[in-house]
Amino acid sequence: METTLEQQEVLSMPRIGDKAPSFTAVTTQGEINFPEDYTGEWSILFSHPADFTPVCTSEFMTFAHLEEKFEKANCKLIGLSIDGLYSHIAWLRTIKDKIEFNGMKNIEVKFPLIEDITMNVAKKYGMIQPGESKTQAVRAVFFIDPKSIVRAIIYYPLSLGRNFDEIYRALIAMQTSDAFNVATPADWNPGDDVIISPAGSCGVAEERMTNTDDLECEDWFFCTKKLDKQTVLDTIIKK
Ligand code: BEZ
Repeated sequence: METTLEQQEVLSMPRIGDKAPSFTAVTTQGEINFPEDYTGEWSILFSHPADFTPVCTSEFMTFAHLEEKFEKANCKLIGLSIDGLYSHIAWLRTIKDKIEFNGMKNIEVKFPLIEDITMNVAKKYGMIQPGESKTQAVRAVFFIDPKSIVRAIIYYPLSLGRNFDEIYRALIAMQTSDAFNVATPADWNPGDDVIISPAGSCGVAEERMTNTDDLECEDWFFCTKKLDKQTVLDTIIKK
């Protein structure tokens, strides 16, 4: 079945490894020019379905509570929903004045929240998933690196609040991969062993199995090494 231009626009999305699509947008912190304003630092661009909804409120409070932690990992947060600026402002004021969640209260959201009534940004980033909702963005999380490359994408449906430990873990794991030229295994956290790139030749495979240095190989294709937690934190986290 042929898709119309309008459908193609809604269904298109950046993929891992692509340059983050550019846009300028009005936000609760003034205009931003993305990703150019964020060159040299990581950013997390995330969408939520609507202002004044409970799951979104719990997520915004959690992100705002963690903002300094992300900032110390050289990462800026940028939110988006298909709502207008005045709705955003009113919602953020209500959160600060009235809402208590998980022991957090009086929470001020200081990172920019994009107004996207036109769906310009949501369409560019594949945040509208028509089978879930044609009018609200799903809960998308785009991790964008200092060179404006999309490095990871997580999507959640409308009813499911995100896991912020995982969002932070993924950020630190990707930064660790970049800094130490390693990969990170399932459920990795700083201090856990890291994976070195698979052997690319028979000679290296043989070396891996006979080496006596710092590698530990289950088999020629599965080698890990120690990477001290403090070394990771000293490299990645700003003092
Ligand atoms: C919420 O944030 O609570 C929500 C938003 C849209 C659909 C379902 C829940």
